Amino acid sequence: MNESTYLTRSSVLFRSVLNDLKRDPASAARELGIPLPAVEEVLRGRRALSPEELARAVRTWPVNERDFFPVHDDAPAGVRVMRAAESAATSRVLRRGGRDYYEYRDTAMSRVSMFRPEWIRMIQPVGDNDPENPDVEWNNGHFLNQFTYFVGSVNYYYEWEGVRHCVPMETGDSVSGLPYAPHSFAARNGEPALILALTYGGRLLGDAQHELSALGPDLAAEYALDSADFPHAAAALLRTHLDNACVPPAELARRSGLTAERLDELLSGDAEASEAELAVLAGALRVNVRDLLPVVPDETDGVRIVRAADARAWSYPDDRRPDYRVTELAGTLVCPNSRGLRIEVLGDGETALRAGLHTYLYNLGPEPVRFSWDHGGRTDRTELAAGDSAYLKPFVPHRFGVVTPGRPGTVLVLRIGGKVCGDALLEASAVGAEAVRRLVTDDEQWYDPRGRNPARAATSAGGAG
Ligand SMILES: [Fe+2]
Repeated sequence: MNESTYLTRSSVLFRSVLNDLKRDPASAARELGIPLPAVEEVLRGRRALSPEELARAVRTWPVNERDFFPVHDDAPAGVRVMRAAESAATSRVLRRGGRDYYEYRDTAMSRVSMFRPEWIRMIQPVGDNDPENPDVEWNNGHFLNQFTYFVGSVNYYYEWEGVRHCVPMETGDSVSGLPYAPHSFAARNGEPALILALTYGGRLLGDAQHELSALGPDLAAEYALDSADFPHAAAALLRTHLDNACVPPAELARRSGLTAERLDELLSGDAEASEAELAVLAGALRVNVRDLLPVVPDETDGVRIVRAADARAWSYPDDRRPDYRVTELAGTLVCPNSRGLRIEVLGDGETALRAGLHTYLYNLGPEPVRFSWDHGGRTDRTELAAGDSAYLKPFVPHRFGVVTPGRPGTVLVLRIGGKVCGDALLEASAVGAEAVRRLVTDDEQWYDPRGRNPARAATSAGGAG
């Protein structure tokens, strides 16, 4: 990790806090009880705030400690690779019910993005597909979304609304599961059984989670609107916008031209708005049409299972030059930016891929693949052997190629949206590239103490001239 970059980014955050609070360095120094030069050193990225100064800032101003700490960038070259041997070195066997149950190994992770991808070997054998098999130890479920890729003869167990299920899986099958559903895995007939359990955080993790925590469980739960079916979910969303805008139904009817009876149907979820109705309602409430469209999960019993045999596959870039054969794996509408893919590498590594998502890669083997990527004006290359994995930053162009002609490689890919997807992506687009650049680099005060008056500048320039 580059410490000077970290300090520079700390200074941008500190300046941002001061700008937002409308404090200049002198008033900040006075209120924090530290000398002005000490504040200026922090603003110049020469030193970090001391723990005492930080504590004083949090006591004095309506800010949180974490507002001052940047995320560490542990992938400054755009990519972070973890070799199979490094993964093997993290091996640990965890016991459940008094016996060895799983062997876990870490694969590539980065502080930049919330992937927690584990290689997991099932140690417990089972001789049947009974979801109540007493040899199966269940977890309590977890919040992180889980995308699972199966290798070998794995029995997948999951529980939804009190009902337990067992699904025998084969190599290439995949599943995406909703949070907090208890689940388990076992080795069918004691045969080799592995999974790549790629857990990851969605948009509720991190900042949203911290905000919800401060609101407390009762207020936090209010955010979970009805999502039973599309009309009811849309009705709940519409009612929320009415409340937010302090607009009663009669006023919305007047603004939109819909009858009170029709609006009543829409607000109770008894009917679904037409496209034309959505447009007038959005206009009447000054929101975007998409703000009135809910997401209704299409999972069955909390999971989406994609069998290898049924998975959609295509050539990339096209059938005439199939450098890659891409297979779409399990995913969820709840996180539509999460993309599980299996990429068969057929070409020589000339065709670049690029995604506006954080990317995780794992070489499923047995063949190695060549891997190259462009970042910061240079191209880096390495070879990913079977079991090697990598994290790749968004928008970094990258390529895979065969090592030995005629011997395709296979890479498991999971892409996730991180924090800048959905509404945040649209906000970034709306404010524009310059504003986004400035957001992460601006270390200037929001005004120039010497003043900025175009008319005066013109006069003095004229006088000097
Ligand atoms: Fe899990």
